Amino acid sequence: MDTSLYNSTPPPYKCSRTPLVNVKVQNNWVVNIVWTVEKDLAHVPYSPPRYPVEAMVKRSQDFYSLMNQRRTVRFISPEPVPREVIDNVIHTAGTAPSGAHTEPWTFVVVSDPETKHQIRLIVEEEEEVNYRQRMGDKWVNDLARLKTNWIKEYLDVAPYLVLIFKQTYGILPNEKKKTHYYNEISVCISCGILLAALQNVGLVTVTSTPLNCGPQLRLLLKRPANEKLLMLLPVGYPASDATVPDLKRKHLDDIRVHI
Ligand SMILES: Cc1cc2nc3c(=O)[nH]c(=O)nc-3n(C[C@H](O)[C@H](O)[C@H](O)COP(=O)(O)O)c2cc1C
Repeated sequence: MDTSLYNSTPPPYKCSRTPLVNVKVQNNWVVNIVWTVEKDLAHVPYSPPRYPVEAMVKRSQDFYSLMNQRRTVRFISPEPVPREVIDNVIHTAGTAPSGAHTEPWTFVVVSDPETKHQIRLIVEEEEEVNYRQRMGDKWVNDLARLKTNWIKEYLDVAPYLVLIFKQTYGILPNEKKKTHYYNEISVCISCGILLAALQNVGLVTVTSTPLNCGPQLRLLLKRPANEKLLMLLPVGYPASDATVPDLKRKHLDDIRVHI
């Protein structure tokens, strides 16, 4: 936790465990931190399954193998996907850790064809400007081998679009703002878990962070001002003729350092 957020004044009472930190706001600026303690929060025994070493090795290999098959798939089938599965993967994403357990995420699931199309129009319009003007030659050249551009057919075709918003702050019962520590990192972790959960059920997506589309999409989806769009994931089965760029991943020795 970023301790610079805390007021230098000590808490008004001793808190031995799990302080909740509320924020006082004036003129949209955080001016003071008010400490409160959830005094009644029980701490309960925790004993998750423990595996023999061989089982651990096997499970770690199997999970690597599953995740190593994950690919960004830009050709998505219109075939319907059970809504319960989408709800379950989002429920899984909501198990992510978050700064001070603020759970600063909102997952908006869009299946309505008209809304999907509106999203496509917004994204394509902005993405064309991104590619032609904002991104610059280097970025566009780096993307060339992936054969991406501003045409995003999958935004109409995929049975679901999941738009993930980070809640930059919360609202307390007294209508004051509640600090959401590390909200972006927390939501990114949650998105990673969501990607793993999708892979686990054989669904595909395109991890995308539509540049400059956030405000328009927030308004379209009627999300409140404290929510900022972080990611847009079209979700479905891969199209039967889907292709992916033949990318190679770094070797373990190139990403891991043992000290
Ligand atoms: C933060 C982030 C933003 C991305 N944005 C886009 C995007 O706008 N459009 C797209 O087609 N792919 C996007 N991608 C997908 C990457 O191009 C893809 O992950 C990368 O090429 C590696 O391929 P893989 O996911 O199949 O391993 C994004 C990925 C990340 C992590």
